[in-house]
Amino acid sequence: MGGFPVQVLRFDSLASTNSEAARHAVLGASEGLCIIAAEQTAGRGRLQRQWASPKDAGLYFSVLLRPKIEQRLWPLITLAAALAVSEAVYECYELETDIKWPNDILVNEKKLCGILAETVETSIGRAVVLGIGINLTSKFLSADVVTAATSVEEATGKVLAPRLIERALIRAIQKRYHALQSSKGIEAIVSEWSTRSSYASGKKVRITIGDSVIAGTTRGIEIDGALRIETDTGEIRKVRAGDLTVLRPSES
Ligand code: BTN
Repeated sequence: MGGFPVQVLRFDSLASTNSEAARHAVLGASEGLCIIAAEQTAGRGRLQRQWASPKDAGLYFSVLLRPKIEQRLWPLITLAAALAVSEAVYECYELETDIKWPNDILVNEKKLCGILAETVETSIGRAVVLGIGINLTSKFLSADVVTAATSVEEATGKVLAPRLIERALIRAIQKRYHALQSSKGIEAIVSEWSTRSSYASGKKVRITIGDSVIAGTTRGIEIDGALRIETDTGEIRKVRAGDLTVLRPSES
């Protein structure tokens, strides 16, 4: 893995692959431990949202990382993971995707994949659990989820053995994570992310951060993954977390 050996543990059902990976992290597991479940009964997303995880409808995957880079750069792990997912999905399904800052993979503006990176305190240092959920079929998704979500089957008609996307994803994460450990690699990830995401520049957006809202036009990302937003007064705000929505023309 350009840096770490992979060990995969598979489960029929788990509450959350991120929770299971965090449990192993606390017990001292090594970087590269991958947890995969056929279903999750308490799959979670960002901002305390649920991640619908019906049996065999998606890839529910987490990998344990013990990054050596400065912690202020850890948000780049999510951006690197988004590139890895885009690459793996293209390799397996020839499906082009968009990346919505910071961590959604979209097809036709609907969500195909979500990424949740969580930090875990362990006796051998702070670790990251990188969780990735990719919708493989929309068949078992509830009506409310399906309006905003899509799947590789819906987008391409293709149903492949999940092991193929698993392997492609692990390889792509290895490559991107390895790149993150070098300064040239960091610049390359920021630059490639900016090229691959239609949200990186010139998009009129609103970012909600708790109770506050920033509206403006995206103006690229910083070297630590923060999104630059130019407000109506011309001020550049650097946003490190939040929920992004695209402004409709009537709102902008
Ligand atoms: C989001 O878009 O809000 C992030 C969704 C992340 C879902 C994945 S599925 C595998 C891993 N385990 C979880 O409980 N969540 C992540």
